[in-house]
Amino acid sequence: MASIPFHFLVLCSFILSITFPIPSGASFRPKALVLPVTKDSSTLQYLTTLHQRTPLVPVKLTLDLGGKFLWVDCNRGYSSSSYHHARCRSAQCSLAGSKICISCFAGPLPGCNNNTCGLSPDNTVTRTSTDGEVAQDVVAVQSTDGSNPGRIVSVPKFLFTCGVTFLLQRLPSGAQGMAGLGRTRISLPSQFSASFSFDRKFAICLSSSSSSGGVAFFGSGPYMMLPGIDVSKSLIYTPLIINPVSTASSYFAGEPSTEYFIGVKSIKVNGKQVPLNASLLSIDQEGNGGTKISTVNPYTMMQTSIYKAVVGAFVKELSKVRRVMPVKPFGACFDSTTITSTRVGPGVPQIDLVLQSSSVYWRIFGANSMVQVKEGVLCLGFVDGGLTPMTSIVIGGHQLEDNLLQFDLATSRLGFSSSLLFRQTTCSNFNFTTKA
Ligand SMILES: *[C@@H]1O[C@H](CO)[C@@H](O)[C@H](O)[C@H]1NC(C)=O
Ligand SMILES: *[C@@H]1O[C@H](CO)[C@@H](O)[C@H](O)[C@H]1NC(C)=O
Ligand SMILES: *[C@@H]1O[C@H](CO)[C@@H](O)[C@H](O)[C@H]1NC(C)=O
Repeated sequence: MASIPFHFLVLCSFILSITFPIPSGASFRPKALVLPVTKDSSTLQYLTTLHQRTPLVPVKLTLDLGGKFLWVDCNRGYSSSSYHHARCRSAQCSLAGSKICISCFAGPLPGCNNNTCGLSPDNTVTRTSTDGEVAQDVVAVQSTDGSNPGRIVSVPKFLFTCGVTFLLQRLPSGAQGMAGLGRTRISLPSQFSASFSFDRKFAICLSSSSSSGGVAFFGSGPYMMLPGIDVSKSLIYTPLIINPVSTASSYFAGEPSTEYFIGVKSIKVNGKQVPLNASLLSIDQEGNGGTKISTVNPYTMMQTSIYKAVVGAFVKELSKVRRVMPVKPFGACFDSTTITSTRVGPGVPQIDLVLQSSSVYWRIFGANSMVQVKEGVLCLGFVDGGLTPMTSIVIGGHQLEDNLLQFDLATSRLGFSSSLLFRQTTCSNFNFTTKA
């Protein structure tokens, strides 16, 4: 060793570093990860693609902000040499919070093994769930410096749950499951931050267009959108609230909701307070009421009395514009030729969701409140959630588009940007060109 000249060692390590990329996850530690998110024009769901299994294959998934974990259909076409089921009472089962041990007679196959702990994969679109085995397999994702995607990194033992083919009902064609970003220890954000020891934060930026995609980031900013705007800056913050009662379609008694709730205290239209039954806005002991954010609801849904009050106030403020026959599922539609257009969409009254104080509000502008249902017709993009929905207000996809939402799990707060159109950018402006 001592006889090898210094410059030779330097040269060797230089050659090594260019010919053998550092094994992902081992020496290279990403600060953040990035996933593309597209909008499916027929279901209005938001889709992302993860690479999973050995050999790696792209797996198309519906993004589910409040979902408990990743679940995929293991019945059809799951083939991987690195698939392992989680044995009952193993560390994986306790991390996953599984309380049941299942057997399966048709296997062994992915999704069908004995002595495996189980969880309930939930199709939150149809509100259907089954029992499925907890498993682990390789997942690979692109890292990011916030400006471009970089090196691909992998999580060798990513935990997920096996679903069955019928659970894919009403998901977009080609989707093989759902990617849950909810408040659990095995959701995508939790496993990614634990694997790479980065901040327990993630952000979604949904695109309004089905031809150009949006983005999800895991880890802290910067989150750069062209032309060089860091949308992780100047966010407005509000506490995330835990609903003590699960909002899933199947759960164990005592389980809290894994969805993200915020404290809407009142609603204003054009700065005027809308009279509402305030008790609907808080979460009661049974978990009813309150406001959550959802990526599986295409439009904001409001309990009937809130819906009627908000639509009534909006129509009153827009009384100079000609109303036309409503187009389902909406209740108030207008002749768009009489509505002006602004940088932030149709020039209509602003709707404010007032949060922890009167100076903190989520302002919804025309681009997020109005939906063009056909040529010449714009409708207020809110829907009636019925008299007794479990959650009084569900802020849906259309209202989230071209807004960046950052979820900080460590401090339990939401940062939101308001419409990026004000900053002359959109959620489809992340530069997905991979940096060499
Ligand atoms: C599970 O155990 C049962 C009973 O021993 C056996 O019949 C079955 O084949 C096993 N299934 C798998 C997937 O190994
Ligand atoms: C307000 O909502 C609560 C909870 O749903 C309900 O019990 C109460 O009757 C409502 N009050 C009025 C005045 O409608
Ligand atoms: C996107 O990123 C690539 C790689 O860094 C860069 O070469 C390109 O100029 C960027 N595009 C724009 C429009 O800035």
